[in-house]
Order: sequence, then structure tokens, then C-alpha cells
Amino acid sequence: MNQDELKQAVAREAIRHVVEDDWIGVGSGSTANFFIDELAKIKGRIRGAVASSVATAERLKSHGIPVEELNNTGELPVYVDGADEVTEHGAMIKGGGGALTREKIVGGASRKFVCIVDASKVVPVLGKFPLPVEVIPMARSFVARELARLGGQPEWRMGFTTDNGNLVLDVHGLAIVDPVGLETTINQIPGVVTVGLFARRGADAILVGTPQGVKSIAARKP
Ligand code: A5P
Repeated sequence: MNQDELKQAVAREAIRHVVEDDWIGVGSGSTANFFIDELAKIKGRIRGAVASSVATAERLKSHGIPVEELNNTGELPVYVDGADEVTEHGAMIKGGGGALTREKIVGGASRKFVCIVDASKVVPVLGKFPLPVEVIPMARSFVARELARLGGQPEWRMGFTTDNGNLVLDVHGLAIVDPVGLETTINQIPGVVTVGLFARRGADAILVGTPQGVKSIAARKP
């Protein structure tokens, strides 16, 4: 099985978590895109979806799935999204595609976060994948210096603007042994909009695509 087939398999499995006649929160990225394609097959059985990016909203609409604003839905029963890295405790690095802020909002507004990944994304310690941080444009250099003081090497994602009109710094060289602590620390730097560490509110369930089939992990909170 190639990586796309593994992503497709977890996307298919994630449909079991969708609550009928209710809203579903939908993430962004290539794995989430496979989930949207699966969701289209049961679109008559859901109320509609809340999107975590402009790209996701467009893909949902292209399948005829109603898209609603989070402000109009209230709490969502379930959010389904991919990750760039995830631990068995459910802590994640997200934002490789730059949608981290809206992903964190929609995930935070959901009772259950279902993370869908292929086996290459499951790691013992987060940080090999550069940690994305969304920043207000005028704070870019200041935030970069602060992130360097924390031991990382921030790199400006040149030519990229988020759906919210902000910039992204990708922080290399971190071995994140305390994801909750680092998330809190980075959140407190003025000018940071969102850090792509999802640990204070991590995944509740992780579906991992392996060549032997989809493995389901109930996240063991630290
Ligand atoms: C989007 O901003 C990200 O958080 C994605 O969820 C994450 O990068 C996983 O993407 P893929 O499924 O494309 O690997």
C-alpha cells in the first residue's frame, strides 16, 4: 500500500466517528481531503460541516456538502483532521499546510478530536517536523528571536500568507519533551497568533493507517 492508500483507509475508517444528523468539524490537508471525499458519500446523513480552512470549505462545497460558520453551530460533536506528527498521548504538530489557527479553533470547539494519519506520522517525541507558528506580520522578527531563545531555529515560510492574513515561522531543531509546557510558553509570546502544537487539547482518538490495516489508539493523556 502506498501512502495515499493508507491515508484513504484511515479516512474511510473515520466515517464511523461521524455523528448522524449533526455537524462535523473538518480539518485540512491531504488526509483530510480523503476524509471529505468519504464524507461526500454520506452527505445526506449529516447536517453539514464546519471547515478549518478556505481550501477545505471549497472542497466540501464542491461535493455538495453544506458548510456552516462555527459561530452558527455551537459546540461540535466531532472534529476529524490529519497531523504532521502525533504521539500516542495525542499531542500533535499541525500546520504543515498553514491552517493551524482555524484547525485549533474548530478542534477546540469539538467534544472529540479524531486524528487520522498514516504510520509515518506517529513519533515518540515531537519536533523532527518543523513546528509552525502563525504570527502577526509586524511581529515576525521579534517572535523569531524569542523562538531562537527557546532553542529552535525559526525559518520564515516565504511567500505564504495564512487564511487570516498572517505569516508562518517554521521552527526547526526542537525536541519537544514537554508539549503542553512549550505550547503554553509559545502562546505567551506577543505577536503569536497560534502555535502548531496541539497538546493542551490533543487528539482523543488516533486512527493510524498501516500496511496491516487501520489501528485505533485511544490517546493516553500524559
Ligand atoms: C494543515 O495545516 C495541517 O495541520 C495538516 O492537518 C497536516 O499538515 C497534515 O497534512 P497531511 O494530511 O497533508 O499530511
